[in-house]
Amino acid sequence: MKKVLVTGGAGFIGSHTSVELYNAGYLPVLLDNFANSDKRVLKGIEAITGHTPICHEGDCTDYTFVDRIFREEGPFEGVIHFAAYKAVNESVHHPLKYYHNNLQSTEVLLTAMKKHGCSRLVFSSSCTVYGQPASLPVTEETPFQRANSPYGFTKQVCERMISDVASASVTGLQAVLLRYFNPIGAHPSGHIGELPLGKPENLVPYITQTAAGLRDEVVIFGNDYDTPDGTCVRDYIHVVDLAEAHVAALRYLEHPSRNCEALNLGTGEGNSVSEVVKSFIEETGAHLPYRFGERRPGDVEQIWASAAKAADLLKWHTKRDLREALRDAWNWQQKIS
Ligand code: UFG
Repeated sequence: MKKVLVTGGAGFIGSHTSVELYNAGYLPVLLDNFANSDKRVLKGIEAITGHTPICHEGDCTDYTFVDRIFREEGPFEGVIHFAAYKAVNESVHHPLKYYHNNLQSTEVLLTAMKKHGCSRLVFSSSCTVYGQPASLPVTEETPFQRANSPYGFTKQVCERMISDVASASVTGLQAVLLRYFNPIGAHPSGHIGELPLGKPENLVPYITQTAAGLRDEVVIFGNDYDTPDGTCVRDYIHVVDLAEAHVAALRYLEHPSRNCEALNLGTGEGNSVSEVVKSFIEETGAHLPYRFGERRPGDVEQIWASAAKAADLLKWHTKRDLREALRDAWNWQQKIS
């Protein structure tokens, strides 16, 4: 089996991608510092795939550790780099924490890949690199706006770092930069899903925790935006669709002529916050108290993807819709409540 190093492999998207790697015949080697993930996830991956995941606990900013993993577990067919902090609001209050972790881990990884002759990298980026775009849907050619958080800026810098290294032909790096829109849902088995630490910042975990009685009510942040129903619009993508795209990206890099591509991963459709709340209630029948509140600082009004480039290059498309993602998220929440 071809080994793939998965940094942040115990996280939300990392764990679902590890499952899809097994399904596709790869052997994922997980690396995680468990700062924002839970060891129960490993049991979940095992329950789905029948494989006990290989997982090394350590920090991706630590060159000695990463170098040792390459020596002991390599050679790797490729690397999928998820390990990063991802809370937009926290990054505003603790910027150095984000600059250190997100930038240094990427630099360390690129250095270790070069040393060990590993040439294929799939990078976990975000639609946050676009800021509030001037026109919709967002294509990969849409110019970046000034990042509205340190988190967003780390994604812009990492993309640039990777494409610079890929352009320096002596290194031989090939990369796919995957710009996720809003990943939601959970594995349909209910064995793995999102495990936010403390109070969730993101909409869908907040909804499911409220419906489970763990939170009092969902506050919809603003209903006076210039959108059809006044609430913000996002492109919500099922995490399993997203995971499958990572496998397709690895396969895409198997062709030696491929150098560095940025790809949007979204459904191509926008849904408002009110639509998400109403769809959740309709799909699950759960009791969900909610009200409208103030706008959340830093939110972009609306954003959704053009997913045409990913469809073209990766031969990948989403198979699951918003309602399926909400049902799967609720199934997962009920199992962990
Ligand atoms: N929202 C609410 N109430 C909540 C939580 C969210 O109304 O309790 C609204 C937000 O205002 C926004 C929408 O729901 O309009 C989605 O918000 P999320 O926090 O779920 O996600 P964001 O669109 O803010 O996405 C950001 C970054 C992504 C990053 C993601 C996860 O843009 O790059 O957070 O950290 F991946």
